[in-house]
Amino acid sequence: MGRRWLVTGCSSGLGRALATAAARAGHSLAVTARRTAGLDELAAAWPDRVVPLRLELRDAASCEEAVRTAADRLGGIDILVNNAGAGLFGAVEEVSDTELRDQLETLLIGPWRLTRLVLPLMRAQGNGHILNVSSVVGRMAFPGLAAYVAGKHALEGMSQALAIEGAPHNIRVTVLEPGMFATRYGISLAEARHRVPAYDVTNREMLEGTRGVADNPETGHPDDFAAAVLDMVAADVPLPVRIPVGDDAYGYVDQAEQASREEFAAARTLVRGLPSRRWPADGPR
Ligand SMILES: NC(=O)c1ccc[n+]([C@@H]2O[C@H](COP(=O)([O-])OP(=O)(O)OC[C@H]3O[C@@H](n4cnc5c(N)ncnc54)[C@H](OP(=O)(O)O)[C@@H]3O)[C@@H](O)[C@H]2O)c1
Repeated sequence: MGRRWLVTGCSSGLGRALATAAARAGHSLAVTARRTAGLDELAAAWPDRVVPLRLELRDAASCEEAVRTAADRLGGIDILVNNAGAGLFGAVEEVSDTELRDQLETLLIGPWRLTRLVLPLMRAQGNGHILNVSSVVGRMAFPGLAAYVAGKHALEGMSQALAIEGAPHNIRVTVLEPGMFATRYGISLAEARHRVPAYDVTNREMLEGTRGVADNPETGHPDDFAAAVLDMVAADVPLPVRIPVGDDAYGYVDQAEQASREEFAAARTLVRGLPSRRWPADGPR
């Protein structure tokens, strides 16, 4: 049976591929972007089931209007996909307060706001599914992407808390962690205005790799992302909260999880040996 979706960031990339696959599978969707011309093709292909809407994540009124219109036109919202996003490149020392706020508005506050607006509808109908598109960088860090990494880590933390809060209300929460997919992400990546050349040694290669992500032969196709997400949404089994998407994503997350266990073990060994430790007997277990 077709369900009612609100998907952000559908003018290109992963969002457009997901919206196309969902419409093709018979679902009804409100699809959003700032550049609404990028939604024309979708709306023209399924005029009865696709509602194109303008939405700017950093503008509260725009988010409220989009959720209200989506719920009115579709008769409710079963699935929210917080997909829209854009990255900022810059070392910690290079990123200004304004740039950091802007990045967090896009990656955290906007999706949080949409979630807050959709939750009462889902609670009233007794079910819902919220999917937040994070990244493998929601579990690890890369140089030059501190603000982006911080935004995705924060989105994952919020989603993990929401998963616990949503469960008694039959609201599922899924964090999607894509690896590399061929989209406009690398092209639309903004750069911090203040440059400190001393960081080129750690960051330049990262910037070049990120800008060229769509041309990397290892990069996944957005249609594969879309097919995986449709399967997850249809799955009749409990889903893990955080799900890496793409073969490379499993490699990255595996490495990060192992590094995290090793870091934790090293910290425990270190703390047990500290002369200042206050723990009884053999220290933290
Ligand atoms: N591609 C990858 O390798 C990759 C990997 C990990 C995670 N991701 C995540 O996947 C999501 C989708 O990105 P993508 O790769 O598909 O990139 P994309 O092709 O650049 O698409 C981003 C979408 O988000 C919209 N958007 C950007 N900023 C917005 C804002 N302030 N308000 C409203 N809409 C905004 C864009 O449309 P308008 O400009 O028209 O608004 C566009 O539709 C993002 O959250 C990204 O962080 C991507």
